[in-house]
Amino acid sequence: FDKKGFRDNLIHWFQQEQRMLPWRKDQDPYKVWVSEIMLQQTKVDTVIPYFHHFINQFPTPNDLAEADEQQVLKAWEGLGYYSRARNLQIAVKEVVSSYNGKVPDNEKELGALKGVGPYTRGAILSIAYDIPSPAVDGNVMRVLSRILMVEEDIAKPAARKVFEGLVRELISKEDPSSFNQGLMELGALVCTPKSPSCLLCPVQSHCRAFEEGKETLLPIKSSK
Ligand code: ADE
Repeated sequence: FDKKGFRDNLIHWFQQEQRMLPWRKDQDPYKVWVSEIMLQQTKVDTVIPYFHHFINQFPTPNDLAEADEQQVLKAWEGLGYYSRARNLQIAVKEVVSSYNGKVPDNEKELGALKGVGPYTRGAILSIAYDIPSPAVDGNVMRVLSRILMVEEDIAKPAARKVFEGLVRELISKEDPSSFNQGLMELGALVCTPKSPSCLLCPVQSHCRAFEEGKETLLPIKSSK
């Protein structure tokens, strides 16, 4: 597998074609964190206005830590899954008290924060800090299962680790942020679940599933 060709095409495409989303304006780890938590169960188009409002109201970890929980829940109203907001505030308070308001830049400290699982941790490390770390969600599993013809059942919790291992092998050490966001963006815009736009795909020439005409048969997802 031509890792370098794949990586270079993906990153180049991401840099040309990415949507200008509000959390992509800078690499503020707090904003990346807020966006990734909001995006976990909610679509991009829905998240955008909430993200603007939330960041205007609580521009820094200090502001969020000091807010009343009711204010925070009010700002989250309509997004649902309110434990996301509660956990975020608990975790941000920890960042203020233990790390002087600076979001940690290592797996151990980040991963110990409430509500920060392997996906969010990897997203913050790679997108905000340019540290090569996998950020594997359903989109990324779909993209990589097709590219590499991985027949793991993505409904099984163990699958994520398999894909994390693959990302660790493939990820760019020069630009891990664009690499991970490129995988997410490809899954959102091109390598979609039902009818992927393979003819427009920047990594079509690297895709084993496309080569065999099996792109719509992957990923494998049992209903369990
Ligand atoms: N979905 C999850 N994370 C995302 C991000 N950073 N940008 C766009 N869509 C996403």
